[in-house]
Amino acid sequence: MGFTIAVDGPAASGKGTISKRLARDLGFGHLDTGRLYRAVGRRMLDGMEPVEAARTLNPEELDDAVLRLPEVAQAASRVATIAEVRAALVDFQRAFAARSGGAVLDGRDIGTVICPDAPAKLFVTARPEIRADRRWRELVAAGLDVSVDSVLADIRARDEQDMNRADAPLRAADDAMVLDTSDMDVETAIAAARRFVDQVRPAS
Ligand code: DC
Repeated sequence: MGFTIAVDGPAASGKGTISKRLARDLGFGHLDTGRLYRAVGRRMLDGMEPVEAARTLNPEELDDAVLRLPEVAQAASRVATIAEVRAALVDFQRAFAARSGGAVLDGRDIGTVICPDAPAKLFVTARPEIRADRRWRELVAAGLDVSVDSVLADIRARDEQDMNRADAPLRAADDAMVLDTSDMDVETAIAAARRFVDQVRPAS
């Protein structure tokens, strides 16, 4: 079993950026588990029953452009409250984590439910206004016409739903290193995450 890094946190906290860079710099695989829930949410918006959508999902064939839309994010947060949907996605995530050569998984419940034995757990967070501003810039750069206020409202609604669901709610694992990126630029946040990983990783 390879070395697993679990990265959790709320929307637009910087966890995706940090995870991608950790994986690249360490030569590990990277799985953005939010894409799985977004894909299920997307299929629900297309009229499919969510549990069926999760059970028949092919994670290798996901269309990223559509998955980034705010309405798909909301749908993802909604389907993520359904225990059967979460259960249908567990095996794929654990198999990814078990791959030799190491893996970084980012999401909401990686350190608490999917990989509770991961040797390195990070909980990446930032103030809601900062997260909304970051996500708004990304969406505008991608050509979407959205206001920063609507992005903030979306983020608050998702935080609320993700933290208060009964099954695998968003929270930091007791043994996670909490990294608040509110006042950090990208490189500073990546460096802090890497220092933490290097402390817990056996020298190779
Ligand atoms: O990381 P993201 O913003 O792309 O995730 C979209 C939604 O999917 C998020 O609001 C909640 C859900 N999700 C989850 O419940 N568990 C995960 N491991 C990843 C995402």
